[in-house]
Amino acid sequence: MTLQQKQKQEKDMHQNKQHIPVLLEQVLHSLSPKEGDSYLDLTAGYGGHAGAVLERTNNPSQTTLVDRDSSAIAVLKEQFGPKGVEIIQNDFFAASQQLLESGRTFDLMLADLGVSSPHLNEPSRGFALQQEGPLDMRMDQSQELDAAFIVNTYSEDDLTNLIKENSEEPKARTIARLIVQNRPFTTTTQLANIVSRAWPGHSRVHPATRTFQAIRIAVNEELSLLTKSLPLWIELLSPGGRLVVISFHSLEDRIVKQTFASLSGDRYDATLDLITKRPVTGDINELVFNPRARSAKLRAAAKINNRKGSIHAYSGKK
Ligand SMILES: C[S@@+](CC[C@H](N)C(=O)[O-])C[C@H]1O[C@@H](n2cnc3c(N)ncnc32)[C@H](O)[C@@H]1O
Repeated sequence: MTLQQKQKQEKDMHQNKQHIPVLLEQVLHSLSPKEGDSYLDLTAGYGGHAGAVLERTNNPSQTTLVDRDSSAIAVLKEQFGPKGVEIIQNDFFAASQQLLESGRTFDLMLADLGVSSPHLNEPSRGFALQQEGPLDMRMDQSQELDAAFIVNTYSEDDLTNLIKENSEEPKARTIARLIVQNRPFTTTTQLANIVSRAWPGHSRVHPATRTFQAIRIAVNEELSLLTKSLPLWIELLSPGGRLVVISFHSLEDRIVKQTFASLSGDRYDATLDLITKRPVTGDINELVFNPRARSAKLRAAAKINNRKGSIHAYSGKK
């Protein structure tokens, strides 16, 4: 390999490992970090949000970063380990259970859901539908279930349900049938090409986008883990503590919205005050330079500190 090729490879690797945090200003505004606050980042990724929060809280010994991806964990350890930050490699549901069992609470919490740019930029991870790679899609590289197993072994009915439920794809049945008729698949591009046959003609997005999303959600159990974890996150908040969740598609956002709504409002047993009445999205500048931000929606809530003092406390009105 020539020096130039090596430099190019290093530059590509560096770029692949880069992740620009979405809605950073909006996260900081909603969390409102102050010196001394404790912080739990449930999807710390490459530490963009965590670094900005930590700069303001200046409290590394009460900062915990969670991710289930070993590449992200390696970067987090290098960046934050020497400062005394706790770093946990686990899925956020198991990590939250572990933290609750040890009696911990946090003033500030963030879950920036979904995949990171390195997931999408490294073809070997199998998330990118336009770059050839193995059918993998596992965020946790040690997990057994991968996309190849789902695509090559699930029945047509199971694939139809999985695609419909995880992406609301209107042609789920047609796509499931095409998959079953044309398998086995080994690469992302083989699958993307066959799925595209369900949508002949031009479309604004790649015709396999929804199917890839559905399979990725299934491989990583994204919706069920979020549903199970949200109540634990609220338990983990200190009184007055703030939780911010950023989601990237309507199915995730619906779960967050419904959970927040069911625990807030003018009712005697409300445990949350909503900080955002509507989801917050990126401003035009961010949408131009960070395409990942285009579908991002942020919702934030605070744990009620003192019911009588809460603006949404139960008013006794019928
Ligand atoms: C959008 S990225 C987060 C980026 C991060 N906020 C930053 O600024 O670098 C999402 C991260 O969450 C991780 N992740 C997704 N679901 C997870 C889960 N259930 N448990 C733990 N980590 C998860 C992914 O591995 C990925 O690194």
